[in-house]
Amino acid sequence: MQKGLRRKDLLGLKDITKEEIELLLETAFSMKEVLKRPIKKIPTLRGKTICFMFFEPSTRTRSSFELAAKRLSADTINVSSSQSALLKGETVLDTLLNVDAMGIDAFVIRHASSGLPHFLSRHTNASIINAGDGMHEHPTQALLDMMTIKEKFGKIEGLNVLIAGDVRHSRVARSNIYGLLKMGAHVRLFGPPPLVPREFEKLGARVFYDKNKALDGVDVVMGLRIQKERLKESFFPSIREYRKFFAITPDDIEKLSDNVLLMHPGPVNWGVEMDYDIMKVKNNVILEQVTNGVAVRMSVLYHLISGERDNEEDIN
Ligand code: CP
Repeated sequence: MQKGLRRKDLLGLKDITKEEIELLLETAFSMKEVLKRPIKKIPTLRGKTICFMFFEPSTRTRSSFELAAKRLSADTINVSSSQSALLKGETVLDTLLNVDAMGIDAFVIRHASSGLPHFLSRHTNASIINAGDGMHEHPTQALLDMMTIKEKFGKIEGLNVLIAGDVRHSRVARSNIYGLLKMGAHVRLFGPPPLVPREFEKLGARVFYDKNKALDGVDVVMGLRIQKERLKESFFPSIREYRKFFAITPDDIEKLSDNVLLMHPGPVNWGVEMDYDIMKVKNNVILEQVTNGVAVRMSVLYHLISGERDNEEDIN
């Protein structure tokens, strides 16, 4: 394993280097080997304490972070909006400072407010890991997506990756755009114009409004969830219209090369951006993405808080 990551927090992929992404992915592949052993637990984070603060719902991110922490032998606690003094009017900052006073090494935070993890990181010496902040970033999702792509193709550089759907409201899309472009992929975006504004081209991606053109020559198709909870106005006339022009179907994928990967970060709105029959597409890796989420989150926790960043012995 290469030498360690020299940063306190993982707030997003916008401000992280290609070398750091490569390091996190390389360690994630090592962690995946650990997860194949009969005893899937290593002592790397023994004595460390991780606090999960999820103020928005989550299935995949929360459970895989918890599992990652447990596989690394860390102690974990949870603070949620429905069970904490937040209900009595305490602020998120006060909540963090009070829990931090008990001796926390890392906070894993999901919140509807973009930028909250960045704000909180300035008030604690503990590591802050962004598990999704509003419409901003979801760095560990993009890392696990890149791990899945690298696992299948052996590389990321030069691949054509299409991100299709509600890009505007998607923190997954933003983190993937930053990460994939840094890793040398060509990123295309596709969806209805109000959900995929041309402004995204300023980040280095190409925007398409015609599905056939968007799909021509792609290596990876990544569907995105229509984020009903963040749609403050009507961005397309009806679900029927969205399905007709913008949903990804098995026919779309079957017209492409045999090696095209089909991805989705989940949760999927079945019957909107995809129908359930997409699961029979040959290279559908939606659940493999979830599997890789544990390894990626082990890698992130290891690099941020092990305190033995240059020591590879404890994970071999
Ligand atoms: N992909 C993702 O973030 O899923 P959850 O909302 O279930 O964590």
